[in-house]
Amino acid sequence: MRVAFVGKGGVGKSSLSGSFARVLAEAGERVLAIDSDPMPGMAFSLGLEQSDAGLPDDAVEEYEEDGRQRYRLREGLTGTDAVEQYAQRAPGGVHFMQLGKARGPQWNNRRQHFGFQRLLDDLPGDGWSIVGDLPGGTRQPFLTWGRYARTFLVVIEPTPASLLTGRRLARLAETARAPRVVAIANKVREPGDAERVSSRTGLDVIGSVPFDPALADADRLGKAVLDTDPDGPTATAVRSLVQTLQKSEEQS
Ligand SMILES: Nc1ncnc2c1ncn2[C@@H]1O[C@H](COP(=O)(O)OP(=O)(O)OP(=O)(O)O)[C@@H](O)[C@H]1O
Ligand SMILES: [Mg+2]
Repeated sequence: MRVAFVGKGGVGKSSLSGSFARVLAEAGERVLAIDSDPMPGMAFSLGLEQSDAGLPDDAVEEYEEDGRQRYRLREGLTGTDAVEQYAQRAPGGVHFMQLGKARGPQWNNRRQHFGFQRLLDDLPGDGWSIVGDLPGGTRQPFLTWGRYARTFLVVIEPTPASLLTGRRLARLAETARAPRVVAIANKVREPGDAERVSSRTGLDVIGSVPFDPALADADRLGKAVLDTDPDGPTATAVRSLVQTLQKSEEQS
């Protein structure tokens, strides 16, 4: 399964994607969780201490082609090798990588960015499930950061701003000819919320997660809600989401 979580800032992408990756690993899949946001998020919901599990500079080579500067993984290093060597191991056996944190005012992440793209391009066929946590906003999620994904999960909370973002993402996905794009209603407080998400965005809502104070508490502690409240509403909703997606993959 290859999924990417997208949506407006603060809707719950990091909280849900980290939990999702762990549940998938517990179900027996070989999981690579990727945080493409230079501001940290996913590590905590996976149950890791704050980390910097990026690609080191020497894993990526620069070369020139047609007068342009390009990047590739170091000679002899496959995508799977790079994951095995450089990913952090999170609970449940999840492999975790982060694109690299912002450093200083002139931070440039081209090397990491393109190194990651090459790594991801090299993984299909090696039996990896990929779960990505993409940066907030609408900036090309379908073409660049998330191009490994076969399903985009747009996380939407029932607020006007988040619904509008969901709608824009749905349109952008059409123009970018993204593969499957579906919604997750998050921070749901009343029965009509999920329905509102689907009617306002035109997306199928394949899962909903209730507003859960335990999630906010876990975040304050920098811990995974799967560890602090393993049988609570978020864990239950994420398990059911994983099952729904696994079933739909079997059918397709
Ligand atoms: N179902 C929920 N119930 C209650 N609070 C939630 C829920 N989901 C997420 N939150 C809270 O919303 C806030 C934002 O969550 P999170 O960091 O996962 O969002 P994000 O989409 O990754 O944000 P960013 O775009 O900044 O990376 C956190 O304080 C989190 O605890
Ligand atoms: Mg986040």
